[in-house]
Amino acid sequence: MTSNLFFQSDVQNPYSIYKAMLDENPVYWDETNKIWAIYSYEYCVEILKNNKAEIPLVNPNNEQELNECTLEILSNLTRLSNGIKHEVSKEIAMQLFLNIKSVDVGEIISSLIKNDLIENEIDWVKSVSKKLPVLVLLKSFGFKEDDCDFISEKIESLIKIMLPQKTEEQTELLNNNSEKFYSIVEKHFSSLSFYDSLLIKTSNQFNLSIEEIIPIAVSNFIGLCIQSYDAGSGILSNSLLQILKHKTFSNRIAIEKSVIETLRFDPPIHNTRRIAIEDFYIGESQIKKGDLILIVLASANRDPQKFENAMNFNIERINNTENLTFGIGGHMCLAKYFSIHLATEAIWYLFQNYKSISLLENQIQHEPLINARLPKNIWILIQ
Ligand code: HEM
Repeated sequence: MTSNLFFQSDVQNPYSIYKAMLDENPVYWDETNKIWAIYSYEYCVEILKNNKAEIPLVNPNNEQELNECTLEILSNLTRLSNGIKHEVSKEIAMQLFLNIKSVDVGEIISSLIKNDLIENEIDWVKSVSKKLPVLVLLKSFGFKEDDCDFISEKIESLIKIMLPQKTEEQTELLNNNSEKFYSIVEKHFSSLSFYDSLLIKTSNQFNLSIEEIIPIAVSNFIGLCIQSYDAGSGILSNSLLQILKHKTFSNRIAIEKSVIETLRFDPPIHNTRRIAIEDFYIGESQIKKGDLILIVLASANRDPQKFENAMNFNIERINNTENLTFGIGGHMCLAKYFSIHLATEAIWYLFQNYKSISLLENQIQHEPLINARLPKNIWILIQ
């Protein structure tokens, strides 16, 4: 049997693996990798909502030898925190989101396309998916051009901070870039009008000093950039592929419905992890304190008990929004609507401004990642 932990780049159709597991072993102990893998919708929801299952620690005892600044960012990220730390960092990340200003997505995407279009051909992943979400985020907070350039160029090295295991090279790049990232964000934030009141409000709310809140705010903004780069790029890439395949681009509403159905049918994020902090049962399986758990969101999204004709792409299915791609419960993604809106705007811009858009390759390769299924390149011809 294929391992429950595999690189998406090594597997052509992960959904056939998920289907087999859903049918045979919806709660499965993977002895090789020493991890539970959960495949059904019902049990994935149960674990995501279970407070005896927490986010596993990345880099315990600094085994990855991260420098002080990288450690500071990592230890403050809401995405990776539990308990009171999570409450504080999530509130600050939410406050940041509340202060996001709307920007003209069309203007940004049009210049990205103009920069890289050669003889009407462009790699949608490299030129748009990987750049647009981070740029929109940065411009929504008013970052200057040269800061946008630095962050967009170096963000790829920063996203490795989330990996449970890092190579020496990844750690070195992270350590080399984190300080400059941190200082750019810290400096820019201190010039923003809402920042002081955000600091005061959260410092009063959690009885922490302003000096304690600042690193949480700066780190979590860097966290938002990181998540925009990988998950944000995936929604743009996967949605375009499905929309082209199913020709569901007649109007803006059809595109938005297609983005939502893509999130169910072919999501960028396939799984997330937990660790049991106490014993508990899932169905008849006893999960022991300390056990690791892989929650296979992409399999839950194709559970026929939840979605009728789950293997079919159908933008009109009544409950498509109930996909688990953004998680559920206390750690649910903060950027669900931001991401859906951005992908809809970007793809609608493409279909409004070009008469014909066609794929130039049939076989899409994926990044060598375990948790995310992200196309490496999508070459398209636009006319
Ligand atoms: C399609 C795009 C995206 C997907 C599929 C996605 C998916 C997820 C998932 C599955 C989680 C929950 C993880 C868990 O419970 O273990 C999560 C959390 C989070 N996401 Fe996203 N995400 C996306 C885009 C973004 C973007 C663009 C941002 C930032 C701008 C973002 C910010 C966050 C944050 C801050 C959390 C942590 C929330 C918390 O700690 O409670 N996400 N996301």
